Amino acid sequence: MKQQLQNIELMAKAELEKISDLAELENLRIKILGKKGELTAILKQMSALTAEERPVIGQLANKVRQDIEADIADKAAQLKAALAQKKLQAEKIDVTLPGKKPSVGKLHPINAVLNEVKEIFLGMGFDIAEGPEVEYDYYNFEALNLPPDHPARDTQDTFYVTDNVLLRTQTSGVQVHVMENKKPPIRIIAPGRVYRSDAVDATHSPIFHQIEALVVDKGITMADLVGTLDMLMKRLYGDDCKIRLRPHHFPFTEPSAEVDVLCFNCGGKGCSMCKGEGYVELLGAGMVHPKVLKNCGIDPEVYSGFAFGLGLERIVMRKYGINDMRLLYENDMRFLEQF
Ligand code: DAH
Repeated sequence: MKQQLQNIELMAKAELEKISDLAELENLRIKILGKKGELTAILKQMSALTAEERPVIGQLANKVRQDIEADIADKAAQLKAALAQKKLQAEKIDVTLPGKKPSVGKLHPINAVLNEVKEIFLGMGFDIAEGPEVEYDYYNFEALNLPPDHPARDTQDTFYVTDNVLLRTQTSGVQVHVMENKKPPIRIIAPGRVYRSDAVDATHSPIFHQIEALVVDKGITMADLVGTLDMLMKRLYGDDCKIRLRPHHFPFTEPSAEVDVLCFNCGGKGCSMCKGEGYVELLGAGMVHPKVLKNCGIDPEVYSGFAFGLGLERIVMRKYGINDMRLLYENDMRFLEQF
């Protein structure tokens, strides 16, 4: 039996050498020290021993058990340490390496310029108004002094939902909504999308953006219109920007004007960009027609107002020297990243 005990201890040591993970170690422990283990099996034979042999063998058996337990504990500690080391190695972070830069998006040039324009007007005490893109004929045309057979409608053909519901061709209809709902003094801008049945080319798109402005109060004159436009253009394009008004016709303003800015390219000398004019056309404007005021329940004998409508794309293109409107809609990152 003494021999058997010594063999077990030798066998345990040899097996322990080969073990490389904790599960194998546990299996070995059960195999030797478990209830049905090899050492236990030997101890069960103790009853066959003589009274003199028993304490000697008993002592030896205890020592063997303690030795094996200690060896297993050592091995477990070794394996755990190795495991922890491996994990540390795998999770190692070199804090001195340069980080991965997240790519931060930015505003589309149309939105960037729109925000800029909004800021300028908010600074002048304007509110921002909104109107529906799917609009009644009445607001888009009729209330603006464009009855059904008016020839100016031809230049603003659009997409009709029914005979009298359409996709708005201009933001001017918001003027009517605002005047119906609010008494003067009124000072608003109304930015938004408009639609026309135009084919796409370098300067046209069936969907584009306008910004409408409307001021109605007692004693508003053309001088207020010019002052406001001058301020807007100087803030947008710099202090040496000059504007010019040309007589024009819009059914909803009287008098009406087309507003040009000094050509950025040639500074007024005349070049291919301004077609030799020295100025480029930017927007339409005028004094709100008395009939339009009346349509909205505002007395033109007491109040007067000015209005203008500008194409946002045109402002963006002038600002950044973009010569093809389609670039603004194609979402080509190589283009958009430049702004
Ligand atoms: N709505 C006009 C257009 O789309 C632009 C315009 C002209 C707006 C004169 C105005 C204005 O408010 O007074 O062509």
